[in-house]
Amino acid sequence: MKLSAPAIRSRKRRRGGAPLVMVTAYDEPGARFAASAGVDIILVGDSLANVVLGHDDTLHVTVEEICHHVRAVTSARPDVHVVADLPWMSYHLGVVDAVANAARLVRAGADSVKLEGGRVRRDVVRAILDAEIPVMGHLGLTPQSVMAMGGYRVQAKSPDAVQQLHLDAKILEDEGVFALVVEGVPPVVGTGITEALEIPTIGIGAGANTDGQVLVFHDLLGLSRGEPAKFVRRYVDLAPVITGALAEFARDVRNGSFPTANESYPNPEGLVG
Ligand code: KIV
Repeated sequence: MKLSAPAIRSRKRRRGGAPLVMVTAYDEPGARFAASAGVDIILVGDSLANVVLGHDDTLHVTVEEICHHVRAVTSARPDVHVVADLPWMSYHLGVVDAVANAARLVRAGADSVKLEGGRVRRDVVRAILDAEIPVMGHLGLTPQSVMAMGGYRVQAKSPDAVQQLHLDAKILEDEGVFALVVEGVPPVVGTGITEALEIPTIGIGAGANTDGQVLVFHDLLGLSRGEPAKFVRRYVDLAPVITGALAEFARDVRNGSFPTANESYPNPEGLVG
């Protein structure tokens, strides 16, 4: 059954809630597999830029592209809450623009939107919530800040940085976000933020004690380029399986063993081509 934003909001492990399972998906098959596997939340993440569109960062994906993939995901009619990422520059130019872009994602099929940042995004979060669109927060290693961070680096490594992170998390909670992604922080920080908040935290590279975990579809299935990040568990290595199947197809076409009669339509009697 699809979880609403308020239902997700109440899923806190310390109150007996089961851990939240979130996975990204970007198309109909991905959403169908995720729904069949029983995940709680599908994220149409801006990681779309990296794992589907071949960019080196998430800064090159647009609202239109995310909308396109939200439509593909929701065409699977997954009975699963679908969160869509507001991409970089879709909520940085003012609240009117941000609300309009959040609404585009909802009209494409999303049940809620996610955006990165804490206190600097306070007005935007409030405005989107005022438009009755549920918002998921995202703090810690926020990939849209890659230039400002000077790379993808573990965050909150000093007492001051931890304090700032707590402040941002509390501000987002007070504004009314229904859950918070915490990415790329030491486990002790993931634990501390989770303990400090009433809303659930969903970790990625934030240790084992958050209220849920999220992984990128292509990472956990072994489909992404290069070495996976430390926090990724590859549940299956599909790249060689897929490459092998495609190579067999190429071989069979080239040696004439595909297609066979069984893989062809029957010839109507007496028909000459
Ligand atoms: O876009 C994405 O995949 C994300 C996850 C890493 C949380 O934001």
